[in-house]
Amino acid sequence: MRKHALSGGLFTEKVCENKSSILIKKNMALRAVCVILGNVVGVIFLSQRDQNSPTVVTGTVKGLSPGPHGFHVHEFGDVTNSCLSTGAHYNPFGRNHGAPDAQERHAGDLGNIFANDAMEATINVTDNGVQLFGTQSVVGRSFVVHEKADDMGLGGNEESLKTGNAGARLGCCLIGLANPATPDHPVLPVPSSSGHLAPVWAGLYVLVLAAMLQRW
Ligand code: CU
Ligand code: ZN
Repeated sequence: MRKHALSGGLFTEKVCENKSSILIKKNMALRAVCVILGNVVGVIFLSQRDQNSPTVVTGTVKGLSPGPHGFHVHEFGDVTNSCLSTGAHYNPFGRNHGAPDAQERHAGDLGNIFANDAMEATINVTDNGVQLFGTQSVVGRSFVVHEKADDMGLGGNEESLKTGNAGARLGCCLIGLANPATPDHPVLPVPSSSGHLAPVWAGLYVLVLAAMLQRW
């Protein structure tokens, strides 16, 4: 049974249909993970106890300007053209864009995440729209973090009802089933932009070394 539960959301449901309800309750929890790499980095976990429970989304995203940033599940887990190929917000019911607590919202609408002065956002939300089970599972889709704040569909223009006017896509990741051995707080990857500082550090090192040699 445990083996089946780990093999994937869609299979899990089918396998569990024929089992007793006690077994279903015990074994149905699913956990997924999404790792953002690039100038913005992050690790985001999703967990859902069963298909009638909300999904808990937790994690950390680094490299964001302080303030709110739109945060959504997008329809495709496809980053062949960076975050642009992840498509629109995941919207299986053909609704308008909205706030996570609104009736009218895309399933993937998670509002905003908020970066602090250290350019780091901590995520801890419980959501009823994002599912890991069944035909509306977001496993195989993606998370996108945006440049600007999501106006939750209240911006008064057409774009607000589609994207929340959240602007460019700063980071994205493919949502996949998590390895049970992966801890909830893994070490975060380093934003790749900090790699640009390497020549600066190397230059400083050479200058200091030269100064020391001259003193000798
Ligand atoms: Cu988005
Ligand atoms: Zn949306």
